[in-house]
Amino acid sequence: MPLCFIDFGRGLPYTTAFFLTESEGLMTLVELNAQQAQSLDEVTAAADASALEQVRIRYLGRNGSLPAIIKQMKDVPPEERPEFGKRVQAWRAALEAALTAKQSVAGAAKMDGNAFDCTLPGRWFAPGAKHPVSRVIEETAAIFSRLGFTVADGPDIENRFNNFTALNTPAHHPSMDASDTFWLTDDLLLRTQTSPVQVRMMTQYKPPVRIITPGRTYRRDTTDATHSANFHQIEGLYVDTKPVSLADLKSTLAYYAKEMMGSKAGVRFRPHFFPFTEPSVEVDFSCHVCGGKGCRVCKMSGWIEIAGAGMVDPRVYRLVGYDPEQVYGYAFGFGVERIAMIKYGIPDIRWLYENDTRFLSQLA
Ligand code: DAH
Repeated sequence: MPLCFIDFGRGLPYTTAFFLTESEGLMTLVELNAQQAQSLDEVTAAADASALEQVRIRYLGRNGSLPAIIKQMKDVPPEERPEFGKRVQAWRAALEAALTAKQSVAGAAKMDGNAFDCTLPGRWFAPGAKHPVSRVIEETAAIFSRLGFTVADGPDIENRFNNFTALNTPAHHPSMDASDTFWLTDDLLLRTQTSPVQVRMMTQYKPPVRIITPGRTYRRDTTDATHSANFHQIEGLYVDTKPVSLADLKSTLAYYAKEMMGSKAGVRFRPHFFPFTEPSVEVDFSCHVCGGKGCRVCKMSGWIEIAGAGMVDPRVYRLVGYDPEQVYGYAFGFGVERIAMIKYGIPDIRWLYENDTRFLSQLA
């Protein structure tokens, strides 16, 4: 029995079905329209190029729905065939247009391997974080630049004179042993400290010299939680023809302590020995964690050992060509990793070299 359909698409309230009836096992007009709508919905929903291809195969492929429907043509009553043909062709055209439009947006080229599929979720790049060692170096340079220091640089490969001799290190000193220093030749070595840059500056420039020198240093140390064979130091040197005293050194380092560790940080000097300074001191910062009361970080002492320092030894002046009677100056040096570990609460120096982004991003 022929069915009656509502076909709003043609603008008529009621239209008698012209071709298909259920009893003939053929598709009704409603089914045809529903399938067309369904096919277009599937194009819209296809998430990527391969899903889109599946839709194309399902409807337009050799065994797809549309060729199967077209095969039914012969069973359609002759007077209904033109309308049937028109509708099926309109469906095919609409479907092909939808596929083409979507493919061009969805990056059909992906199907042949060099695609840009702008419907795919973008790759997410985590924002980078500056490495703690870089941060300490940059902050230190900024702090000292406010006091008139400029940044000086020297090579990682040094000679014996700059690294040891000019720094008044006796020829038999154990730090020169092959067990402590990476020697490259009899004369060349990987610098064990940034202090040789002092020598380079003083042999090249007349006073006043006011520099800090951040850089890599190398020692034959076995790596553990607090040691590394390759680490960083920052050296400071101020030499002038007008009087410079230990008090100037202390106030400079006190300023640095407050800027770096917080306004409550203080410094203390303990007598020590370095070959290139006389007198020499070890410099402690008051513990920024407990404020000096004593805690695990400062091992209950209230103080944290930070730097070596002192007034430049007259013998160093002589070795670099300065007249010790004409110049005054101080020098200091400290480990960058140590400051970073203290400042950021890093318990193991190796974390600084493992490039584990889980650790680094915590510091962002
Ligand atoms: N170079 C020393 C070291 O590696 C640190 C140091 C101590 C540097 C005293 C100085 C200084 O300039 O005056 O342990």
